[in-house]
Amino acid sequence: MARRDRQVEIEEVRMRRFLIAANWKMYGSLAMAHEFAESFDQSVDLGADVVLFPPAVYLSAVQGWTSEFVQVGIQDIGAALQGAHTGEIAASMVKDLGGSWVIVGHSERRTDQGESNELVARKFASAVAAGLRPIVCVGESLEQRNAGDAFAVVSNQLKAVIDLCGVTGLQQGAIAYEPLWAIGTGLTATPDQAGQMHAAIRNLLVGFDQDVAQLVRIIYGGSVNPENAGLLFAQEDIDGALVGGASLKASSFAAVVAAI
Ligand code: 13P
Repeated sequence: MARRDRQVEIEEVRMRRFLIAANWKMYGSLAMAHEFAESFDQSVDLGADVVLFPPAVYLSAVQGWTSEFVQVGIQDIGAALQGAHTGEIAASMVKDLGGSWVIVGHSERRTDQGESNELVARKFASAVAAGLRPIVCVGESLEQRNAGDAFAVVSNQLKAVIDLCGVTGLQQGAIAYEPLWAIGTGLTATPDQAGQMHAAIRNLLVGFDQDVAQLVRIIYGGSVNPENAGLLFAQEDIDGALVGGASLKASSFAAVVAAI
């Protein structure tokens, strides 16, 4: 089947459009970003919302190198709308430069910077207030999973956002389920493990609002690569991916996108 027909078919059977995002973390350089933008084919609608999250200082450059079919954002924002917060970047500034998305609550920030559920929720709220689309990351550690606490951890992380922004606030962005034990380890959650958590998250949302639950995209992150992406995307409740290591090269990121 021609690629275009296949995209139309995907969109007809799925009510949620795939969201595939590249989180470059603190990797790369301006030269790498340029090389990526040159070699990643962005001349057609890829059948998914494709978003690049370069380090913040490269946002403007990367924005200038992307086509209408690729969106950009940064990996974190300050919780305040503006003010005396040295080193922080306000959501409105991301908007100013043509950014449309932001990641909040990535586990590396929760761990390295001690970000609490409440702080992450405030960042989510600031992003929505500025008209950005936040992706809130949630996920449990291996110890928490082994103790049977995975869903409790994830639901507390999400409830903090719902408490502050309401469940309809969630609909402005997306949720990324990223189990800590699968990030950068090469140890991906199996499609069943990920699918079960995604279904449990959606079920949690049903308790708040049936429509939001059906519309919010829940994407998976943690060692996603061109080989495992297809099986993950075949899960009903997995609506895309937040890709780390495999997003640093245009060819492997393109292969993940193609796996939809
Ligand atoms: P890896 O794909 O390198 O495991 O990183 C996942 C991640 O943290 C994306 O935000």
